[in-house]
Amino acid sequence: MCGIVGAAARRDVVPVLIEGLRRLEYRGYDSAGLAVIDEHSRLVSARAVGKVAALADRLDAEPFAGQVGAAHTRWATHGGVSEANAHPQRSGDNVAVVHNGIIENYESLREVLEGKGYGFHSQTDTEVIAHLIDSHLQTGLGLREAVRTSLGELDGAYAIVAVTPDEPTRLVAARRGSPLVLGVGNGEHFVASDAAALLPVTRHFVFLEEGDLVDLTADSAEVIDLQGTTVTRPVVESSLSADAADKGGYRHYMLKEIFEQPKALGDTLSERFAHGRPLEAVLGPDAAELLPQVRGVHIVACGTSYHAGLVARYYLEQGGGVPCTVEVASEYRYRDPVVPPGTLFLAISQSGETADTLAALRFARGSGYVATAAICNVPESSLVRESDLVLMTRAGPEIGVASTKAFTTQLAALGLFGMLVARHNRLDARMEKLYARQLLHVPAQVEKTLQLESAMIKWAEWFADKHHALFLGRGPSFPVALEGALKLKEISYIHAEAYPAGELKHGPLALVDADMPVVAVAPNNRLIEKLKSNLQEVRARGGQLFVLADPDTGIRSEPGIEVVTMPEHIEALQAPLVYTVPLQLLAYHVAVARGTDVDQPRNLAKSVTVE
Ligand code: G6P
Repeated sequence: MCGIVGAAARRDVVPVLIEGLRRLEYRGYDSAGLAVIDEHSRLVSARAVGKVAALADRLDAEPFAGQVGAAHTRWATHGGVSEANAHPQRSGDNVAVVHNGIIENYESLREVLEGKGYGFHSQTDTEVIAHLIDSHLQTGLGLREAVRTSLGELDGAYAIVAVTPDEPTRLVAARRGSPLVLGVGNGEHFVASDAAALLPVTRHFVFLEEGDLVDLTADSAEVIDLQGTTVTRPVVESSLSADAADKGGYRHYMLKEIFEQPKALGDTLSERFAHGRPLEAVLGPDAAELLPQVRGVHIVACGTSYHAGLVARYYLEQGGGVPCTVEVASEYRYRDPVVPPGTLFLAISQSGETADTLAALRFARGSGYVATAAICNVPESSLVRESDLVLMTRAGPEIGVASTKAFTTQLAALGLFGMLVARHNRLDARMEKLYARQLLHVPAQVEKTLQLESAMIKWAEWFADKHHALFLGRGPSFPVALEGALKLKEISYIHAEAYPAGELKHGPLALVDADMPVVAVAPNNRLIEKLKSNLQEVRARGGQLFVLADPDTGIRSEPGIEVVTMPEHIEALQAPLVYTVPLQLLAYHVAVARGTDVDQPRNLAKSVTVE
């Protein structure tokens, strides 16, 4: 991952680059750096370990300025977190490069370059790119051709930006496997990993395609495709506003995003139903032709999006009789899956840029599926552009690294998607209308469930000094338990695991004691009596239970069992969406109580664009 931003203008671009980095920090935040060509056509740069604020402080203390430059916020892949490994990586005073991605053949390239006399000062794969470009500049090539030639020698995935004082008004950028967008300003041009980084300076973007190289000055931007041909790519006006990404009075983005869920869910569902049933056209113009052919679904995703996929399996199979498999993308892409006739491939991704998910999609394209489909939150993402059918989640920008509203809106979109597929299989119109009504009621249920925050603050006091926690659920509540455990470990660093409650006796029960809080998700469904027995197994071993229960279950608080009752009866289709909300609040308040960095937890990043 990492975030990159570049600018060519007729004003000092340092403030633009710093603001761009701040907006890209969700992509990585272990160190940051920036290089510009100054007024004397010299390459100057600064780097700092830590967040972008540390770099900004350094630049306040030792300022410099320039009209062309590139900047970077890092999530370490090759080489530990240190100033020497931060970007820009330089080749002496002649080239500076920022890079997002991984160069797989960097070791062999490094040997060749060392043979040519280049000294290396970092452990990064990126430093190789800087020296490689310099070696081609030394043969008399201009920056554009030096970059193009270098890229031909690199294996792996990347987005890069390069500058040289030899051509002080120029910046050359390229993408292969990592996202990059070109921002078109008024007499100035920019590039960045994400359009959101450039919203303060422009709303006009070109979404670069795989293999594109772009040659920028303040006045011009030439895009060159993989074949070396100059191409014209459409300029798109973004509907996002520059302030879409502020905290709106909340202490953390994560809390704001948790509380935005009723609106986000409403947006995901609005104008997508007619006569009480979902509209096929929400998946795009080809849906009418493709959906009747679908007899099964393969879902592929990572992280929280994978948990959404696990819930969708219940929607498709139980509600609709549609066979469904769900797999993490990093495994699927190397597994040679067997594709039964009539199978649809579905990728779920908040960002639409997760490297493993994108690679899985590209693999699936030639693998005999009826079609590829994407459920995604970012309209301009690679995943959306490369899928046959697309359903947007409309969650709005999600900044907190721990995913919240992106997850619940994925579930809402999957509810809708499930009906559209299942109606061509076992789902009849009467049931479809019932499910549609249940889904449309979810935003109101989530609104009420947010009122459980004070109860979750109390629970959080129990968890704050613990080292481990277990989460239990059965049926579709198992993925909800997985998501609850993931939230807790991501932001509070408490080791948390989730199990299907019936599996407890096959091992995890050995861990249960008074120091191991056990959270159970207990909607009133056909498995409730079995779940109650599983909870007894925990109580009998002295485990402390925290149960989120449907009011109809009859589960009440007693010594050793803390019960929080949901605000109303929640139907099976609704339960994964609604029960997720208190678990998000629990994780958030435990993290606050422990004083961790809620929005930018250690070692993580929001968008993982490396394998
Ligand atoms: C990262 C994020 C997770 C996210 C996962 C998949 O690991 O930290 O929150 O669930 O990537 O991201 P995607 O954008 O594909 O949903």
